[in-house]
Amino acid sequence: MASIYLQTFGCQMNTADSNGLAHQAWSMGCTFTDDPAQADIIIVNTCAIREKAETRVYGRLGQLKPFKDSKPETKVLVAGCLAEKDRNVMRQKAPFIDALLGPREYNRFKQLLADWGVPTDLAPPETEFTMPSPEDDPGHDGPAQFSHLRALVNITRGCEKFCTYCIVPYTRGPLESLDPDDIESQIHREIRCGAKEITLLGQNVNSYYHAPTGLTFAQLLRRIGRIEGLERLTFLTSHPKDFGPDVVDALAELPNISPRLHLPLQSASDSVLKAMARLYTIDEYLEKVAYFRERLPRWALTTDLIVGYPTETEEDFLATLALVERGTFEYAFIFAYSPRAGTPAATMSPQVDPAEKIRRLQVLNTAQNEVMRRFNESFIGETVRVLTQGPSKKDPARMAGKSGHNATVIWPRDPATEHRAFVDVAVDQAFQWGLAGTAV
Ligand code: SAH
Ligand code: SF4
Ligand code: F3S
Repeated sequence: MASIYLQTFGCQMNTADSNGLAHQAWSMGCTFTDDPAQADIIIVNTCAIREKAETRVYGRLGQLKPFKDSKPETKVLVAGCLAEKDRNVMRQKAPFIDALLGPREYNRFKQLLADWGVPTDLAPPETEFTMPSPEDDPGHDGPAQFSHLRALVNITRGCEKFCTYCIVPYTRGPLESLDPDDIESQIHREIRCGAKEITLLGQNVNSYYHAPTGLTFAQLLRRIGRIEGLERLTFLTSHPKDFGPDVVDALAELPNISPRLHLPLQSASDSVLKAMARLYTIDEYLEKVAYFRERLPRWALTTDLIVGYPTETEEDFLATLALVERGTFEYAFIFAYSPRAGTPAATMSPQVDPAEKIRRLQVLNTAQNEVMRRFNESFIGETVRVLTQGPSKKDPARMAGKSGHNATVIWPRDPATEHRAFVDVAVDQAFQWGLAGTAV
């Protein structure tokens, strides 16, 4: 029986893939360990979205090398987006790797395990499948007893938008919409295993289209919204180009939908948006947001922004800053542009000076933090329903979880509520990072 150490970097798509790999290994009788020294097989699922992500992966591979050196029969598999992107240089940079599998090659995983001596004819173990706790995903930082409350379900794979800065279409391939019956049965399975919250995943869920039945994303949402036992539903990510009023109307009908929409803008400057090939103007974006705000008041709008994209001028940047200062987004993830070899933006000129990128990043973060703090303060005096993540990492005397708006909420730990999936918390304090209160 082989023991596997599995570490996941990157986005929720990678977490979902790691779940899939773990499930395949489990069905062959493998077990999991969080100690690489004990492992027969070490798997690192990697990310290539920005240079920092790559550096972290290579750093981790460097740390794992001694385990292979001291026990050469240990097999090392590198999976994920960096395995695809760096296929040709990874073996030079980390020659101790035994195998590479890109995100489109996981159908070869079982065969690989078989090649490594894992028997293929064993019945799956009698114990329930439990996901080894992923280390890199802040959504899964609770202990194992709570991690099964949240499940990630892919509805699309790949992306063919080819935004000029982005590596994903190269690592994950063209768009593919999954069969709605398969999606539904996976959701049923997750609910049977205890999931309370389902996150529908895709690089651009709005481009979901199941050709044989003509089912669109809005229709899929309505269908999934009716599933019994589904207590919380959310989805990631929406591309503004394909996001329309039909989706907003569907969301308004769903009782269990979490009140948040992630709609990455990237920049508020039309010339930068055009250079990025984002396929919308700032006015078109704001028009969609206006309809969303009208139909779904008190939802949180969250976004991604990139500063220092090649050709971005001070004026372009100030347009994004002004939009943020106006309180357009409740939360925002802000990134300094990172050139990805092979993408059009990497060779575009002029590139923005690295120090200037960092300055813009800090200015924008400061502005957004202020908006975020004000939004969090608006919950003081209210009671929010929280999905538990487990004891707080910083203070084990408190529990931590997520509100429907995705704010981190903490409350004092007590035996009466400690094991509950959902807890209603009366909020009495707000911080930049989230909310604190007492369980009611
Ligand atoms: N499919 C999603 C984005 C996935 S990547 C979408 O289109 O919304 C998540 C975020 O990373 C992007 O929204 C973008 O803001 C950021 N990002 C992607 N490539 C980047 C790069 N080369 N440099 C900096 N940020 C990048
Ligand atoms: Fe990347 Fe654009 Fe596809 Fe998002 S939509 S994954 S940013 S290419
Ligand atoms: Fe990273 Fe690949 Fe996700 S590059 S962000 S793991 S799609």
